[in-house]
Amino acid sequence: MEAFKLMQMASAYGQSLLSYHLGGAPSPFSASFAVSNRCNLRCSYCNFPLMEEPELTLAQVDTLFDRLREMGVRRLGILGGEPLYRSDIIDIIHQAKKKDFFISLNTNLLLYPKFRDRLADVDHFFTSLDGDPEKHELNRGKQSYDKILSAIRDIVGRGKPLTAICVVTEPDRAMADYLLALADREHIQIHFQPECFDTEIVLRSADDSMNQTAIREFWHYLATCKRQGASIASSADYLEYIANWEDFRKSSVLDMDSKCAAGRGFLFVDSTGHAYPCAYTKGKAEGVNLLREDWRGTFKHTPCTRCIVGPMLEFNLLFNRPVRSVFNALKQYG
Ligand SMILES: C[S@@+](CC[C@H](N)C(=O)[O-])C[C@H]1O[C@@H](n2cnc3c(N)ncnc32)[C@H](O)[C@@H]1O
Ligand code: SF4
Repeated sequence: MEAFKLMQMASAYGQSLLSYHLGGAPSPFSASFAVSNRCNLRCSYCNFPLMEEPELTLAQVDTLFDRLREMGVRRLGILGGEPLYRSDIIDIIHQAKKKDFFISLNTNLLLYPKFRDRLADVDHFFTSLDGDPEKHELNRGKQSYDKILSAIRDIVGRGKPLTAICVVTEPDRAMADYLLALADREHIQIHFQPECFDTEIVLRSADDSMNQTAIREFWHYLATCKRQGASIASSADYLEYIANWEDFRKSSVLDMDSKCAAGRGFLFVDSTGHAYPCAYTKGKAEGVNLLREDWRGTFKHTPCTRCIVGPMLEFNLLFNRPVRSVFNALKQYG
């Protein structure tokens, strides 16, 4: 990562940390922006493609990026739906680059060949890999595996860091071992996250008969692999936190003794330009139209305070156990 961007991010994160712990005006250092809900896949657990919502024009995206900069945001996650489904995605990435954001891109990579030579401004790639070809295509659709693997090789060959997200739908150690061997071979990292239930952006509800003991043992196993040096992006704290979660049928809870950094340290912006503390609170918290309003004067609190929602949990550790988490984040996420 360029030293200048790293310093900008560190300073923005420091301000977020102060705001979170001292309770001042929100000062999010990171934002995720779903540029479109449309998608070329219909994954078994995801509701994005079924949420038909308008998209911002390039001029509106520019206004949004100015607003995010004013609010202190320095890290911008571009996602969807499938961001490469927008024909003007390269313009959006160029706009983000001009505003000096650290840019990450979450993509299923199926359209990567069309854009491969025009993605140099992306600082970090995230993609999705749920297991071996059979398991992956069961969750994410036929013929998606081989194309992703060749795109991953191209990205890594260009020297870009890449993390593959595995949505854990079953506690299957052999599948985790398969992905970790692939990660070593391909020089990537794997971020494991539990399948989440019961929010607007996901498709399924939890199965009451799920084997909670097996799930717990699986996450302890991943924490052990991490400590032994496996190519797992997530921190050991994150993996142990999930292993100790009380009830996997619920992805988040409102616990008055806990506090969540969503909204103060980071936020989510949907395809219409409305902001929420995080993606999983869309539909539970009121959205703020960032084209018209400033988040800093409107945000009050989150509808839940503890969760096992992958990226949000890792961000929360960044705010609640800053020293250890920053060390891991620098090592793993660039
Ligand atoms: C919404 S997608 C957008 C980016 C891109 N279309 C992709 O699939 O990589 C972002 C990540 O969320 C994950 N995801 C989708 N539904 C989920 C769920 N119910 N629980 C946990 N993660 C989920 C996807 O697998 C993907 O890695
Ligand atoms: S997880 Fe990604 S690829 Fe799959 S349907 Fe959702 S947005 Fe599309």
